[in-house]
Amino acid sequence: MQPTTQKLIDSDKRHCWHPFTQMRDWCAPDHEPLVLVEGEGVLLRDSEGREYIDGNSSIWTNIHGHRHPKINAALRDQLERVAHTSFLGFTNPPAIQLAEELLALWPQNVSQPLTRVFFGDDGSTAIECAIKMAVQCWQFRGQPQRNRFLAFSNAYHGDTMGASSLGGINAFHGRFSAFHFPSSHVGSIDELISRTQPSASDPIDPREIAAVVIEPLMQGAAGMRLWPAGMLAQLRAWCDRHGIFLIADEVMTGFGRTGKMFASHHEGVVPDFVACAKGLSGGYTPLSATLTTEAVYESFLGDYTKMKSFFYGHSFTGHQLGCAAALASLAIFREEAVLEKLAGKIEMLTGALATLKAHRNIAEIRQCGFMSGIELKRSSGERFDAARQIGARVCVAARKHGLLTRPVTGDTVVLMPPFCISEAQIMQSVEAIRLGIEEVCD
Ligand SMILES: Cc1ncc(COP(=O)(O)O)c(C=O)c1O
Repeated sequence: MQPTTQKLIDSDKRHCWHPFTQMRDWCAPDHEPLVLVEGEGVLLRDSEGREYIDGNSSIWTNIHGHRHPKINAALRDQLERVAHTSFLGFTNPPAIQLAEELLALWPQNVSQPLTRVFFGDDGSTAIECAIKMAVQCWQFRGQPQRNRFLAFSNAYHGDTMGASSLGGINAFHGRFSAFHFPSSHVGSIDELISRTQPSASDPIDPREIAAVVIEPLMQGAAGMRLWPAGMLAQLRAWCDRHGIFLIADEVMTGFGRTGKMFASHHEGVVPDFVACAKGLSGGYTPLSATLTTEAVYESFLGDYTKMKSFFYGHSFTGHQLGCAAALASLAIFREEAVLEKLAGKIEMLTGALATLKAHRNIAEIRQCGFMSGIELKRSSGERFDAARQIGARVCVAARKHGLLTRPVTGDTVVLMPPFCISEAQIMQSVEAIRLGIEEVCD
């Protein structure tokens, strides 16, 4: 029998340490964490039997809903064979098939198609893998001076040290700057172009850049911020002019979130590296994939004594259960025409969000496909003092109305539910946010 809610909470407060959380507040006697015990479709259930809409898809991971019968069956079926075996020295059927299917999601009739997949654990390790491959590739190609990265202000690419080097959110990344890989940050493509002119006051030398990394179409943790249309294609062209790799961080945007399978597809861009995680396994297990080109891969080939192997990997690389879940998720996309149906849901989300637009506490609503951010403001027009944590408080208030979600930077409440949400549940989610705002904002 499951311990009581109180027992679980007491034990959590004694033993656990939660991510991005001020644990003094978490452990305060009046803080009652929700203990989530079950899910079905778009709904999550807590240990007291209360139901909530999973408004941020369990931190942007879940795609087709919880306990999807096809993913559950695929996991059970795989469990009957084996859960995990080493990808170091061995291979396995689900990982092989998944590599093939992931690559087939990208155009192959381009000059540098994506042809290789390296599996990892999560978004951070997908990025870590891409940047280590990029640096080594330039070393092997006789250009070791290409040892800097170019990233964007307010970017978020994960928390391992390499991924953190690319991050542009001071609260998360600033503390580690002395340990970071060399990198420069720019706020826009225009700034990138002007700073790479030799006459710039704070110049960036493109000949030193190994790769540019971007969250395509929309920056998530920055506050669900949209890039101007066409910017990604412009960046691809700029990288091509300077012979620099383009890394697309599709960790949040991949697997249908933007309305197409990948954000890069909206602008006909094929990056040199693509980082996938979160929705890759349908949000069921940790799993990542870093996709790259044959040209990158071939730079690593050679006599063993030349030490050109990619000396990188994780214990769970090519995880059989994770890959089985990912294959089932891709099958659902095909068999249930998920992207085709999503177009209508995106419109429903747009329509529901429009009902909030004129609200006195809403500064801006930003939407990209089935991802949205609702930025809050005081009714007087100013931003809230960050110390008040208004975004977080609105989300706590929205729980009473059946919605679970979290804010990102700048008091921006995220709404990006699993794709199986109904129109009525979309309306309920937006109404819960409105009621949360009414309760908390001034
Ligand atoms: C764009 C992007 N990249 C990378 C990451 C890191 O992924 P993970 O938390 O799985 O390491 C995230 C996480 O939110 C993300 O949004």
